[in-house]
Amino acid sequence: MKITYYGHSCFGIQLAGKKLIVDPFITPNPLASNIDVNAIGADIILLTHGHADHVADAAQIAKNTGGTIISTYEVVDWFGQQKIEGHPLNHGGKLTLDGLTLKCVNAIHSSTLPDGTPGGNPAGFVIWGDGKCIYIAGDTALTLDMQLIPRICPPLDLAILPIGDNFTMGVDDAVMAADFVQCPQVLGCHYDTFPPIAIDKEKAKRAFSDNGKELILMEIGATREF
Ligand code: NI
Ligand code: MN
Repeated sequence: MKITYYGHSCFGIQLAGKKLIVDPFITPNPLASNIDVNAIGADIILLTHGHADHVADAAQIAKNTGGTIISTYEVVDWFGQQKIEGHPLNHGGKLTLDGLTLKCVNAIHSSTLPDGTPGGNPAGFVIWGDGKCIYIAGDTALTLDMQLIPRICPPLDLAILPIGDNFTMGVDDAVMAADFVQCPQVLGCHYDTFPPIAIDKEKAKRAFSDNGKELILMEIGATREF
C-alpha cells in the first residue's frame, strides 16, 4: 500500500490495483502550493463528508480523471446535481470493486456542503485489499463506535486519524482511538492547516510513543510504502 500526503486530510492511496484520492483540499491550501492538482490520478475520489476543506478539488479531479466519487448519499447526490457521477455508500454498507473493499463507518462531526446544502452524516471508511487494511477516520470526535472496527473489519495495518483538535479530536483522544481500533501505527491529519488546529508535532509524537504507539507525520508531497 503506497500513500502520498497532499496536505490537510488529503491522501493518495494505491492499494489492490486502484488509485484513491481522499478528501482533496489542495488548491485552497497554501501549505500544498507545491502540489499540482491536475497531475493527480484517481480511480476513486473518496469523500468523508461535505465540508469545503474535504471536497474543494473533488469536481476538478473527477473531471480530469474520470474517477468515481464515493461518499455518503447526500454528498454524492450534491455532486450528481452538477453532473459529476458517483456511488453513494452509507454507514454500515460496504462496496467491493475488483479486489478492493470499502466499508462506511461512523464519524461524529457535521457535514454541510460548500453552498450550505445539508450533507447528511459524516463518515469514516475502512478499506482493504491485497492483504492490507486501512482506516480513514475522517473528521471525527473520539467515539466508542470505533471499538466495532476490529470486530467487523480485517486487522488494521494503518489508521489515519485527525489530531488537530478544535474541529475534531486532538492528540490525546487520537491515542485512545488507536486503542479502540487496535492499530498502533497512526498517520496524522487535519493539523496545522489553520491557526486553531496548529499542533506541537514533537509533543504529539511523544504522546503516542509514551503509549506504545507510533504517530507518523508525512511531509506534504511525500510518498511512503505501508
Ligand atoms: Ni469537517
Ligand atoms: Mn475538516
